Amino acid sequence: MQINPHYAELNESYLFSTIAHKVADYQKAHPDADLIRLGIGDVTLPLAKSVVEAMGKAVEEQGHKETFHGYIPSEQGYEFLREAIRKYYAERGVTLSLSEIFISDGAKSDLGNLLDLFSADNTVLVPDPVYPVYVDDNVMAGRKILYLAATAENGFLPMPQEAPDADIVYICSPNNPTGAAYTVEQLQAWVEWAKARDAVILYDAAYECFVSQPGLARSIYEVPGAGEVAIEVCSFSKIAGFTGTRCGYTIVPQALVRGGQSLNKMWLRRQTTKFNGVAYIVQRGAEAVFSEEGMAEIQQNLDYYRRNAAVIAQALDEAGVWYCGGKNSPYIWLRCPGGMGSWEFFDWLLDTARVVGTPGEGFGPCGKGYFRLTAFGDAARTREAAERIKAALAKL
Ligand code: MLT
Repeated sequence: MQINPHYAELNESYLFSTIAHKVADYQKAHPDADLIRLGIGDVTLPLAKSVVEAMGKAVEEQGHKETFHGYIPSEQGYEFLREAIRKYYAERGVTLSLSEIFISDGAKSDLGNLLDLFSADNTVLVPDPVYPVYVDDNVMAGRKILYLAATAENGFLPMPQEAPDADIVYICSPNNPTGAAYTVEQLQAWVEWAKARDAVILYDAAYECFVSQPGLARSIYEVPGAGEVAIEVCSFSKIAGFTGTRCGYTIVPQALVRGGQSLNKMWLRRQTTKFNGVAYIVQRGAEAVFSEEGMAEIQQNLDYYRRNAAVIAQALDEAGVWYCGGKNSPYIWLRCPGGMGSWEFFDWLLDTARVVGTPGEGFGPCGKGYFRLTAFGDAARTREAAERIKAALAKL
């Protein structure tokens, strides 16, 4: 018997687990410390009223023989939800067929699961810094990983002319952790790059709902022809606060063919074998996100988080700290003041301001000297954190 040797190549623990342990240790040593957590991008507002109502109704249905739902008719997801997603894309001029939409239990799972479609011999290109899931998933599979530097010089938006050859590339826009977002035109260059070498783009659109600036892409399929090269993964976590409810979706276009095989067919085959779908109750809740009332309620929540981002940004402006993001993204990416390293600043901020953030270095070597704060916190606590950060920085 041989275990998967590649697990030994991983960091000791997943970034957010490492931070959670560090914070728990700190809290144990300082039981009276009032910590404000702006680290992991977890939402704080409850589910929208329409979502809760739809889920309540679905719970009731599950309690009656006439309306009970057992195994989901298609592991791909209920048609009512796929239809709602189809319309959501159509409003942005993107045409999808229902067969291209797969309901999942969240973006993180599918970002890993999708790798079942590709040989372990493929080379993967990931930006640095990056959401650590992309790297860890590929380390586990023993794939060769190449890194593409995202730096202040390239606006944290590396372009294909800087890229080495690869078979799979991950793009996350608006980006986690830097908050930078590609324009449709910039994504067009990536689509052309992928076409020229038969590569596949795994496009993480989890933060698309934060895009407000015209010209910035919310879906890679806004680029004509992207369906031949890209799989898009999205989530209800950030748009509708489903971090604890779990639902997302993945688009695998019919036009995506590699090695003579339809990736859509392969993904369907994979899902029907390894996945039994997302709970009916949850899918009904997700459907309500796209109703008129649902969308209006959700916009209010997104505005709440946008105001949090503005509060953090203002504090950093006043303290003279360089940052980016926070405009089309819930993340603020700042340069650690006083030449501090990312983990050094993490410890300093925790101890001085009792505020928890995420060290940039945890997202990759190019994140060295940077730090991420999330706008997903409670508004009053975020204002308090901003005041504390400003006061702490004034002492530097
Ligand atoms: C993050 O903080 O980067 C995200 O919340 C992690 C995730 O979405 O899984």
